[in-house]
This record gives sequence, C-alpha cells and structure tokens, in this order.
Amino acid sequence: MRIDIITIFPDYFAPLELSLIGKARAAGILDIRLHDLRSWTHDRHNTVDDTPYGGGPGMVMKPEPWGEALDAVAGAPEPGGAAGPGAVPRLVVPTPSGTPFTQERAKRLSEEPWLVFACGRYEGIDSRVAADAARRMPVEEVSIGDYVLAGGESATLVIVETVSRLLPGVLGNAESAVQDSFAAGAMENLLEGPVFTKPARWRDLEVPPVLLSGDHGAVDRWRRHEALRKTARNRPELLRALAEGGMAGLDRTD
Ligand code: ADE
Repeated sequence: MRIDIITIFPDYFAPLELSLIGKARAAGILDIRLHDLRSWTHDRHNTVDDTPYGGGPGMVMKPEPWGEALDAVAGAPEPGGAAGPGAVPRLVVPTPSGTPFTQERAKRLSEEPWLVFACGRYEGIDSRVAADAARRMPVEEVSIGDYVLAGGESATLVIVETVSRLLPGVLGNAESAVQDSFAAGAMENLLEGPVFTKPARWRDLEVPPVLLSGDHGAVDRWRRHEALRKTARNRPELLRALAEGGMAGLDRTD
C-alpha cells in the first residue's frame, strides 16, 4: 500500500520509522511518503493560513498550497478525463467534523492500494480543497473521536497504524492468529477481558486457575464471560447494541 501524508509538520511522523510499521516499510509492504505543505507556498513567509471569511476566531488553511500539493501528490487533473485505473488515490481528511473512524472502516481502508492524508491545522482547511479534490478522487472526512485535537497529524498516525496492522504480512503469525479468532468469533464487538502471563503467582496475585487448567472449552467460556463483564462495565452501550441485534452473542452466557 502507498500512503502519502501532506502536513506542515513532517517531523511529527518520525514514529512511523519504528516497530511494526517501520518493519513493514523496510519490507516494502508499506510505501509511506511525507510531504511538507509549505513547499507549495510561494511567499517569503511560506504562509499556509489566513483569516476566515465571515469572521470568527482562529485561522483557516489557504486553498492554493493545498490545491498544488494535491495536484503534485495525487496526480494533476486531466483535461476532460479521469486518471487511469489504479492511479487514483483515496483522500482522507482527518477532522473532528468527519464521520467516525472504526475498525470496520480501517479494514475497508486497508483494502485500498493508495491513501493520501491531508493534515489540517488551525480551524481546518478551506472547504473548496475537498470539493475540488472530490472531482477527481474519492474523499473521506474522518473523525477519530468526539474531542478536538490540535491538528490532523495525530489522527493520521492513529489511522495509519490501525490500517497498517491489517495489511497482509505486517503482523507476526501469533498476533494475526489472535486477530483471526476475533474476526471469525462471536467475541466481535466485545471488549477483550483481562490477560495474564508467567509467573502464575506474582506478589500475592494469582492467575485465574481456569487459565492453567488446559481445558480449552472452559478457557473460552471464561474469556467470554470476562469480555461481557468488561464490556458491561466500560462500554454498556455496546452490549445494548448486541442485545438489539436479536440477543446475538448473549445467548452463550452462563
Ligand atoms: N483533528 C482535530 N480533531 C480531530 C479528531 N477528533 N479526529 C480527526 N481529526 C481531528
């Protein structure tokens, strides 16, 4: 997968050199390219923002650098025609006013060959930028949660990490097996319960004996029970959603 990130803070993305994503890049699974928006400014101060039309607080990112950046990175508009098959990226614009980012959405994005992220700062990017881009490529405004970050960079890191670990070959075997059982099993939409490793007794705390029993059925039932308990405690609305789906997934408790 190719990922282009346009930002005024390319250094923000240093973590993408590390760990799973760094390895995936080195292995050629992920081709991540960073672009400094200011390289498409033409004034002495490399200006990327201006005051909002209609008044109000803060600054808005100017359309001209963004238009040039997207033309350069995502392909210039072709006179009277769309780009060839496979040549059109999907533009992702992280913004608190976007539609929610979910695991399901990450899965869908992971199936795209090419994503371009436009990281806004200040009060956001002049709305004509997305409108113009949408004439040539699919555009998604994405929110990672109901809170306001200082800019789209940290949201982009979240989305890139979530999408990348779903790419074939990025996770090791052990981790992908866990992922598979989640995807296939009825535990989907429940929070993961507590996990333990050796030693079996640490300070005065014991690992639940069922996990040492070797009884896989009992372990599965215990995990499901703990997942339900944790979900009820931390995310009760998820259980209500499960219940509304015809009690699906709740029929195997107790
Ligand atoms: N930019 C600022 N806040 C954001 C959020 N919650 N999600 C995505 N992008 C953002």
